[in-house]
Amino acid sequence: MPTSLINPDPIPLGSDFRVGRLGFGCWRLVGGSQYHYRELLETALGLGMNLVDTADVYGLDWGGTSFGEAEDNLGRVLAEAPGLRDRMVLATKGGITPPTPYNSGSPAITAACEASLGRLGVDVIDLYQIHRPDLFTHPAELAEALVALRDQGKIREVGVSNFTPRQHEALAAHLPFPIASSQPEYSAACLGALRDGTLDLCMRDGVVPLAWSPLAGGRLADGTEVRPELVAALDRLAEHHATSRSALAIAFVLAHPSRPVALLGTQNPQRLADAAQAAAISLDRADVYSIIEASEGVPLP
Ligand SMILES: NC(=O)c1ccc[n+]([C@@H]2O[C@H](COP(=O)([O-])OP(=O)(O)OC[C@H]3O[C@@H](n4cnc5c(N)ncnc54)[C@H](OP(=O)(O)O)[C@@H]3O)[C@@H](O)[C@H]2O)c1
Repeated sequence: MPTSLINPDPIPLGSDFRVGRLGFGCWRLVGGSQYHYRELLETALGLGMNLVDTADVYGLDWGGTSFGEAEDNLGRVLAEAPGLRDRMVLATKGGITPPTPYNSGSPAITAACEASLGRLGVDVIDLYQIHRPDLFTHPAELAEALVALRDQGKIREVGVSNFTPRQHEALAAHLPFPIASSQPEYSAACLGALRDGTLDLCMRDGVVPLAWSPLAGGRLADGTEVRPELVAALDRLAEHHATSRSALAIAFVLAHPSRPVALLGTQNPQRLADAAQAAAISLDRADVYSIIEASEGVPLP
């Protein structure tokens, strides 16, 4: 009996946390009702998806109308049901500053973090991530701001998102504590992190990868704007493993030995439950390499 590439056990994150293999993403937690948001959070936590990932900038799309709206919506759920806070590892991000694209200067990151605390209505953010690299902030300045926020008890762990491995290392070199997470886009349709060093760095340094858009924003679920060969490969494997195409695509993300957490974006409780099957799927090397070949449209050498 072949051994699965997927280990379903929770993963240590930073010094104090353990997170499930699937996390709940709040990019699309806008344009709905408070009742629905609470139902989603309770469903996700009940399924073991205890990493809850949001960002200050979420709210400007998917029916939202303002910067901060997704954090506000999550904060209102936490105010209504405070017990949920203790069941989650609360992650947010700062550093995207429309209309200026990015600002990770010390005053901007400090103010962004404090504003997130206010919108979320919490004393501390468990994982504070820099959303995208600001090419015009020296990593020593950013590190100093993050150390101060941590020393003040406002954040517990630090993560990066959309950083190149070199940008990640440059920030890490100025921090007196390890970077806990790295958040790249990663899915069967977006394989860059496999070979650009992002996942290798995670394995070298014990950093938890948080894979954003594990269904390529829904394109892998509905089969649009992705290679038909990839959809066919996922469908063939889904049938073989008696599961859905979406669960199979999420299983592909979970199979990498860096043990990524797949950040789910669905706002549908039933689809969260379907995705939860992914960690129990038994994928082997033949399965994952067939997905890569179908995604890239060429055989591996
Ligand atoms: N760091 C970054 O720069 C960055 C960028 C993007 C996202 N993220 C993070 O990653 C999270 C997930 O991103 P994402 O929303 O693009 O993730 P995703 O899981 O790849 O896509 C979710 C989308 O797929 C749709 N979908 C259609 N059929 C589905 C099915 N059968 N099962 C599940 N979903 C289906 C969902 O619609 P329904 O809601 O109708 O199910 C939803 O619109 C975000 O919430 C955020 O936390 C981070």
